[in-house]
Amino acid sequence: MIELAFSILAADFAHLADEIARAERGGGTIVHVDVMDGHFVPNITFGPPVVAAIRPITKLPLDCHLMIEDPDRFIPAFAAAGADMVSVHVEACRHLNRTLQFIADHEMKAGVVLNPATPVDMVFEVLPMVHHVLVMSVNPGFGGQKFLPRSVDRIDHLRRLRHDLGLKFRIEVDGGIGHDTVAEVVHAGADMLVAGSAIFEPGKTEHNAREFLHLARSATSRTA
Ligand code: DX5
Ligand code: ZN
Repeated sequence: MIELAFSILAADFAHLADEIARAERGGGTIVHVDVMDGHFVPNITFGPPVVAAIRPITKLPLDCHLMIEDPDRFIPAFAAAGADMVSVHVEACRHLNRTLQFIADHEMKAGVVLNPATPVDMVFEVLPMVHHVLVMSVNPGFGGQKFLPRSVDRIDHLRRLRHDLGLKFRIEVDGGIGHDTVAEVVHAGADMLVAGSAIFEPGKTEHNAREFLHLARSATSRTA
């Protein structure tokens, strides 16, 4: 199933519960939480206390995208806060296998993230242990950036690897996904679509989510 993981980075933080409810009413299926530490990326956002605050206000899964150095230090806190999925950047993990296992040991779904300049093959060895691979289609740190077109080939590469290896991991894409780019990433094989600025807009959030999902689900994925 094609899912919309709406990124609350683009929401009005003063009314976060209402914003999440609007995106959910429009059909959004996952809450994407962008965690930034000011070191791994040049921006600071939110951490486990915000995840804990959101947990009781929605039944949707909470997908925490950790753009932080040394993520192992915070995995127990995200689990305690109620995160359902945690993804870590391959570029931030010295012992990626251990970190992914640590996430699974905390009963969360583990994901691995690739920056635009990181070869897809860097995650080859861990593909059997992840729930999803997140392909960054912008350089992480900020919402509202322009989609990097090479991402389409990278998603396609992952989809072929998944087929060749007989695996079932999901392919998530994040950055610059909107009405103009959604069809090509779905066609290439992405099925967890992160979108922030294309969804959150005063007075139009519910409508934007619905339109986005309509476009995404009308686009066909390549088979295999
Ligand atoms: C970027 C974040 C994204 C971002 C997406 O570092 O990981 O999730 O919020 O925002 P848009 O959809 O505006 O590109
Ligand atoms: Zn993200």
